[in-house]
Amino acid sequence: MQRAPNAIQFTTLGTDELVRLYAYPARLESPWIRVNFVASIDGAVTVEGRSGALGGAADHTVFTILRDLADVIVVGAGTARAENYGGARTDVRRRIRLHQHGLGGARDGSPPPVAVVSAGAALDPAGRLFTDTTRPPLVITTAAAAADRKRLLADAGAEVVEAGDTTVTAADLRAALADRGLLRVLCEGGPSLFGELVSAGGADELCLTLSPLLVGGTAGRIAVSPNALPTPMALRTLLVDDDGTLLTRWERAGTRG
Ligand SMILES: NC(=O)c1ccc[n+]([C@@H]2O[C@H](COP(=O)([O-])OP(=O)(O)OC[C@H]3O[C@@H](n4cnc5c(N)ncnc54)[C@H](OP(=O)(O)O)[C@@H]3O)[C@@H](O)[C@H]2O)c1
Repeated sequence: MQRAPNAIQFTTLGTDELVRLYAYPARLESPWIRVNFVASIDGAVTVEGRSGALGGAADHTVFTILRDLADVIVVGAGTARAENYGGARTDVRRRIRLHQHGLGGARDGSPPPVAVVSAGAALDPAGRLFTDTTRPPLVITTAAAAADRKRLLADAGAEVVEAGDTTVTAADLRAALADRGLLRVLCEGGPSLFGELVSAGGADELCLTLSPLLVGGTAGRIAVSPNALPTPMALRTLLVDDDGTLLTRWERAGTRG
């Protein structure tokens, strides 16, 4: 069995070292699904319905690097609605540099598109997803979603993808992304979508920031699904910031290394 890595002091790391630590596996032939969450020590994923109060500076730094490395940002519609998602804003020069080094990014430095998973396609066509973005979003939805809603979202500029009958399974999602050559996948939640991935063995990697906070209350946990599937994970990266924030990266055991 491989030993868990030693903790690294976050403040000793520059951007290049963070990029190296968080690089996707080389020569991917199918989507690698990385999921990113921030939670309090007692497991809360929200404070008053949103995640903003949980992430500090170190989490924000890693969050932006993960976006810069990705081909696509996948998010559940609940999160897109709660967090008022718009298009991603990434670092143009860093995206170009990453592309030149074969690490993701984009040749022209453009940001990755946002792909929203929604069974019902109940998204606001006047919302930021459609109006505040430089990349057309993808809406990964179902055959059962109302045709007029799908048409409205397509008219608003989205690529609407029918990827399942009544729900989008992990396999449906993977196939939709693979068809479009979107292999470096960053899933930013939320708990229902991550629950679907976990219960289908469909997540390759979890980046989890633990913020030095106790929250209590009724906030949910990072994965929620009708069925459980215990999945062994291997700790690959452990960073500690001065304030006690822990930035962890876990891969499905046996996937590499
Ligand atoms: N702390 C963090 O890092 C973090 C990260 C993300 C989210 N959050 C928080 O989590 C909360 C949202 O939780 P949530 O569980 O509602 O999030 P979610 O998974 O983003 O959204 C659930 C919705 O997404 C769609 N969906 C999810 N899985 C689907 C599937 N397999 N097939 C088809 N559609 C699917 C459905 O949309 P339709 O209803 O449109 O069909 C469903 O109602 C928010 O408060 C957000 O702030 C926290």
